[in-house]
Parts: sequence; structure tokens; C-alpha cells
Amino acid sequence: MAKRILAIGTTNQRISINKQLVDFASSLLNESESERIDMIPYDLPIFSADRHDEEGVPEQVIGFRGIMSEYDGFIVSLAEHNGSYTAVFKNLIDWISVLEGKVWQQKPVLLLSTSPGPRGACTVLGIAENYFPHMGARVTGSFSLASFHEHFDEKEGITDNEKLTELKEKIAEFESAVLGS
Ligand SMILES: Cc1cc2nc3c(=O)[nH]c(=O)nc-3n(C[C@H](O)[C@H](O)[C@H](O)COP(=O)(O)O)c2cc1C
Repeated sequence: MAKRILAIGTTNQRISINKQLVDFASSLLNESESERIDMIPYDLPIFSADRHDEEGVPEQVIGFRGIMSEYDGFIVSLAEHNGSYTAVFKNLIDWISVLEGKVWQQKPVLLLSTSPGPRGACTVLGIAENYFPHMGARVTGSFSLASFHEHFDEKEGITDNEKLTELKEKIAEFESAVLGS
């Protein structure tokens, strides 16, 4: 049976450059199937220990964790807000972590990021590179696309040849970890 990859763009914007990037990256997978999950339905009440004690874990969080368990690996494209994770994504991770600290379930994860600016959301990418492994992610690589609108075409995808080659290599490494797991 083909391995299944869950693609995540960590944003609650309807139109999102990280969703575009993660969709394009997923289209480069050779042997696995992929689906993207949208964060918009997971725009949840802000986590607090009191809320957790009083109201328990929101159903959507249990649902999201269940969906994650059906997949063999994750491609995560990180939107950057003020040098860090978006609130919607950080909040979902906080909620999942009270169910299971190893949020990424010891599965292979490829980290991506992009922004309209020249830094390509590399600050949040660095944070994730450092911390995802502590949350049970087997990070196989990371890739940042700077100045998204100059390097991405809606029909063609990444237009910069060097960056396209780099992403293909990262996808190949990720897929080989998934196939070997
Ligand atoms: C509140 C806010 C903070 C932002 N902070 C950053 C930032 O720190 N670094 C950055 O590169 N872009 C920043 N941006 C611009 C985002 O990269 C841009 O909105 C991008 O489209 C977000 O990704 P998305 O389209 O996938 O949601 C910020 C945008 C907003 C609305």
C-alpha cells in the first residue's frame, strides 16, 4: 500500500503562500499519496491550563491527532508571524501536546517556509528545526523559499532552478525516510 503524507500550511489565511508551497512540494512526491489539511477549522480557543482542567481538550484537537495517526509522514510549511509560529498553529500544537508530548508521533517531517520578504520566514524555520525533534519529529530536512512572489508561479511552481533542485533533493530524502519507516 502506498505511504500517505499529510501536508500542512500553518496558517489560517484562506489564500496562503505556504499552502501554495506545500501543495507544490507534495506534487513532487514520487511514490506516496498526499493530502493537505487546512488550519481554518482548527482556529481554537487559546490554550490555558485552567481551560484544559475545566473544559477538557476540544474535540477538534482529538480529531486532528487522530488524522495525524493515519499518515506516515508530514510536510509542514511554516508561515512566520513576528519571527515565530502563527498563533493558530502554536495553539493547536499546545493543545495536542497535552494529549501527547510527541506531537509528531516519531514520523518523518520535512519543514518548509516561505514569506514575501527576502528572509523566507527563516526565523520560524530555525525555531522548528530546533524544537520539532523534541516533539517527536524525525526532521529529514528543511527548505526556505525567500521572496515568494518573485520565485513562484501559480501554474509552474518554483521558477528558480537552483531552489527547485534543492527542494526536489529534500523531497527525495524525506520520501526515502518515509518509505523506509
Ligand atoms: C501579524 C503578521 C506578522 C508577520 N510577521 C512576519 C515575520 O516576522 N516575518 C516574515 O517574513 N513575514 C511576516 N509576515 C508576513 C507573512 O510572511 C505573510 O503574511 C505571509 O503571506 C504569511 O504566510 P501565509 O500566506 O501562508 O499565511 C507577517 C504578517 C502578519 C499578518
